Amino acid sequence: MTAITDVVNLDKEGEIAVLSINNPPVNALGIAVRQGIADGVTAACKDEGVTAIVIICQGRTFMAGADITKFGKPPREPGLGRVLEIIESSRKPIIAAIHGTAFGGGLETALTCHFRVAVDSARLGLPEVKLGLLPGAGGTQRLPRVVGVEKALKMITSGNPIGAKEALEDGLLDEIIKGDLLSGAVAFAETILSEKRPMLRVSEMNEKVEAARGKPEIFENFRKSIARKTRGFNAPEACVKTVEAAVNMAFGEGLKFERQQFEILMKGPQSAAQRYAFFAEREVRKIPDIPKDTPLHDIRKAAVIGAGTMGGGITMNFINVGIPVTLIEQRKDLLERGMGVIRKNYDISAARGRLTPKEVEERMSLVTGSVSIEEVADADIVIEAVYENMDLKKEIFSKLDRICKQDAILASNTSYLDVNEIADHTSRPESVVGLHFFSPANVMRLLEIVRGKKTSKSVIASSMALAKRINKIAVVVGVCHGFVGNRMFSQRTRETDQLILEGPMPPQVDKVIYDFGFPMGPFVLRDLIGLDIGWRKETSTGSTIREVLCELDRRGQKTGAGYYKYEAGSRIPIWDPEVEKLIFEFSEKNNIPRGEISGKEIIERSIYPIVNEGAKILEEGIANRPSDIDVIWLNGYGWPIYLGGPMFWADQVGLENILVTLKKFQERFGDLWKPAPLLERLVKEGKGFKDL
Ligand code: 3HC
Repeated sequence: MTAITDVVNLDKEGEIAVLSINNPPVNALGIAVRQGIADGVTAACKDEGVTAIVIICQGRTFMAGADITKFGKPPREPGLGRVLEIIESSRKPIIAAIHGTAFGGGLETALTCHFRVAVDSARLGLPEVKLGLLPGAGGTQRLPRVVGVEKALKMITSGNPIGAKEALEDGLLDEIIKGDLLSGAVAFAETILSEKRPMLRVSEMNEKVEAARGKPEIFENFRKSIARKTRGFNAPEACVKTVEAAVNMAFGEGLKFERQQFEILMKGPQSAAQRYAFFAEREVRKIPDIPKDTPLHDIRKAAVIGAGTMGGGITMNFINVGIPVTLIEQRKDLLERGMGVIRKNYDISAARGRLTPKEVEERMSLVTGSVSIEEVADADIVIEAVYENMDLKKEIFSKLDRICKQDAILASNTSYLDVNEIADHTSRPESVVGLHFFSPANVMRLLEIVRGKKTSKSVIASSMALAKRINKIAVVVGVCHGFVGNRMFSQRTRETDQLILEGPMPPQVDKVIYDFGFPMGPFVLRDLIGLDIGWRKETSTGSTIREVLCELDRRGQKTGAGYYKYEAGSRIPIWDPEVEKLIFEFSEKNNIPRGEISGKEIIERSIYPIVNEGAKILEEGIANRPSDIDVIWLNGYGWPIYLGGPMFWADQVGLENILVTLKKFQERFGDLWKPAPLLERLVKEGKGFKDL
């Protein structure tokens, strides 16, 4: 065996050279890998005893792409483009042997090989768009030449991978290897040599791109089909344009165009934000004082208290991954209703072809309903999901303390209440944790893990591991009213409520927030989730527009009217002059002068307080790092990923600009706008949140 570089070895199996890459964790195409491939292929080509070359990777995966950590740094030669030229122009056939994920630059490397084989669990894709980029090493030019233009457009603009079976059907793979990949790949090499199979250079395969030439409608229709999903993003359109170039330009020209577009995206703010988000989602898993080897609780059985919307959604998370759940409700009718909703959700998935009827039954068989809380005795984790009332929660936790086995995790799904107070109501506060799921709990990926003063490290580590199992992105936060997400969000709610009394009507505020990049404005959102959450008829005094609307039974979409009105069966908000009148009257009655407020001020007043609250949260140690806050906003509140999250965005806007504006508002509106001391300090030191 010859070491070509620290991470690339060249070996021989008979006449077949084996170029083996070992660059953990994901064999990213850093300089040592690129140099190793270039020199290894060159050496094998020169070796007269070699008839073909297999490129294979060690560890968990084939190359998962370019090394993202090196983006934005000075390039080092040989670049990936040069390495791929060396591979494709080889006169000896090169076979990519794929396992794990052939992603991005990894798949682009495979596309320059003359043959591709893979194990059946392999996945192949070009996920660059998720980083605000496009495939920049020939992927946009080669993939359509193999799988056809429409399929390539879909893969490149979504960034979603396909499995080996589909790749075989599409011609992206030549063979699926059963058993050992290396022996299979070597055997495949021997077969193609003995059959004298012609070497295929993808750059020379023009049939599929020519078939789409002179048909601009393919691209126009495709653009329309992705318009809603990709609103606000730059990369998807650049992807479409470069695939269009593959159709209309010669290969070499298309490659140049691709490079140009790649560079534009790479230097742009969106990709910087999306790459930041990629690393933020990985960083969030690291809890500073909790070592990797912290012992974990073994979670085999769960129990959920409360079969309402939240309890039902939480239950689905567990049974989706095969963890049985005991679901507790106070009354039989409520229990049956809750179980019915779970089944209905699965039936909808089945009707859409996402589950088979057998899978629905399998999942439902994992839920056991009961009206007796004593049934949770053998659960490894219990999640309380009853309505927000401290006395009720305390009562439940003291029961759980009596019933549950000693090493069970006792979790509350509270979204505001003091987890320490709940924990202190048990004899084992170290076992108590907040698990704040977001609604709908079976859909939303965010989970705030609320760490109480006494919560043990093992309970936190186990909650993190559990979150991964149930496909959530978990963020560990400290105890305060509303934790991180809701505490910050309530700032926006307060201010947008105020704005409509001073000038703009809800449709104007909604448009500004929507145009900023959120999936919907605050009032459309309120109508969707219901205005009456936390509202009670008995205590309502008409002191806010929301209360007034609820009192009129305008409780949102579910009652056909809220801030907007809705036609029967429709979710399209229609502005209602009645509400306009009501808001005017309310402002007048409360002596609030109305006037013009610019879109800029709407943004400043609804987003800057979010940033200010984030700074306070950091100062209080409620969040571990600014990027954790951003992960929460990206995954729980619809913050557009191309703006990175509120703390990242604040750094781009400039903390000094934000501080000056907050002070201006403090003068106008009072101390609610007082800047967080951390913000003052960072500005004074010329730093940003990124420096914390
Ligand atoms: N470059 C550098 N580091 C990478 C990386 C990459 N392309 N991909 C993953 N990593 C790192 C992660 O940051 C993480 O580091 P950490 O342990 O220090 O936090 C580690 O590898 C493991 O990653 P995950 O935790 O994500 O591991 P998983 O097993 O869950 O997932 C994966 C593996 C599916 C490969 C996933 O990491 C992934 O999707 N990676 C990104 C793939 C990608 O976007 N490729 C395209 C890159 S851009 C490109 O190729 C440009 C080209 O067109 C020119």
